[in-house]
Amino acid sequence: MIEKVLLKSKFYGSLIGVLIGDCCGAPFEGQLMDSGSKLVLKNYLNKLEGPFFKAPYKKFTDDTALTICVADALLDSKGFSQKQLAKNFVLEYYKDTRRGYGSAVVDVFAKLRATKMADPTGPAYAQFGGNGSYGNGAAMRVTPIALFCANSNKAHLMKLVQEASLVTHTNVLGINGAILQALAIRQCLQLDPNETLDRKKYLSELKEDIVILEKNNDADLDSNYNAYEKQLNAVQLLLEGDVEPSDENVLNMLGHSTEALYSVPTALFCFLRCTSGSLKDKDQRSFRDTLEYAISLGGDTDTIASMACALSGAYFGDAAVVENLLKHCERSEDIRKIADQLFSLLN
Ligand SMILES: *[C@@H]1O[C@H](CO)[C@@H](O)[C@H](O)[C@H]1NC(C)=O
Ligand SMILES: *[C@@H]1O[C@H](CO)[C@@H](O)[C@H](O)[C@H]1NC(C)=O
Repeated sequence: MIEKVLLKSKFYGSLIGVLIGDCCGAPFEGQLMDSGSKLVLKNYLNKLEGPFFKAPYKKFTDDTALTICVADALLDSKGFSQKQLAKNFVLEYYKDTRRGYGSAVVDVFAKLRATKMADPTGPAYAQFGGNGSYGNGAAMRVTPIALFCANSNKAHLMKLVQEASLVTHTNVLGINGAILQALAIRQCLQLDPNETLDRKKYLSELKEDIVILEKNNDADLDSNYNAYEKQLNAVQLLLEGDVEPSDENVLNMLGHSTEALYSVPTALFCFLRCTSGSLKDKDQRSFRDTLEYAISLGGDTDTIASMACALSGAYFGDAAVVENLLKHCERSEDIRKIADQLFSLLN
């Protein structure tokens, strides 16, 4: 059992990770990350980590906005419900529509609003000719659920993640991506960051759960029945290689798109790649490396960096984060308050 003080710092770390990955990754979304852009990225992060300057804060995007909505739904005095979550999403979206939302999810929000959330999963089920979305939107906002379930069993966590996903993402690949990210955060919460991370063990535990999950799903599915298992095998191959894999190799094997299948395993790889060895003195380096590496892969940079940093923060706790980096992000104070509130729900 992890002691309380450490667990609380992990609550801070994971939510701070969501925010920082999102805010710092957003300016690079969709950019070609050649060696010049990578240098720009490094200098940019160095500047944000350096002495505090009175810069305009970094605005967060949909990743953090919807993560806060999920946390609020879990903290709701009447208990979590899909209807309340749908309502939170709709209120948040119409409060500020310019946070990089995809057009598909905007369509869901519009239908939810028009029907006053009468059927909170109906609009999501109707999307893409009934296939539902397999984007990474459910995975990117899942951190509060992993925290909320820190002391409950995996089955409860997985069920709650599924319920929360269905409001916008009903395709099995979208849901399983969220479950994978939640299970990965759960494992990070349980580990002692002073001990060397056993990456092989960490991955094989995740894979065990995913294999069972995909077996239980296969009634709905065709060729995707072991999609995430294959991606986790690819993560393992990349980690075990003798040489540092090239970006091209990583992208060919894992991807960096807005699809959950081609971004959740990528974020996991970023975290594991930058978190090896005994890290007693290098905590802050490792979180920063995860952030920089995730963004350097390009593509859906804000979401991949956000998910990767949520893992790093859940593993190390908030001591791994340079305070000035956090101070440049919008609502950094509120993020700590939300972590406090979620922590106080644990018994
Ligand atoms: C729904 O999924 C099927 C099977 O994968 C695919 O053939 C079809 O094009 C999809 N429909 C839409 C509208 O995306
Ligand atoms: C980890 O190591 C640091 C420095 O040695 C120490 O201050 C801290 O209490 C340790 N944390 C845990 C969880 O053992």
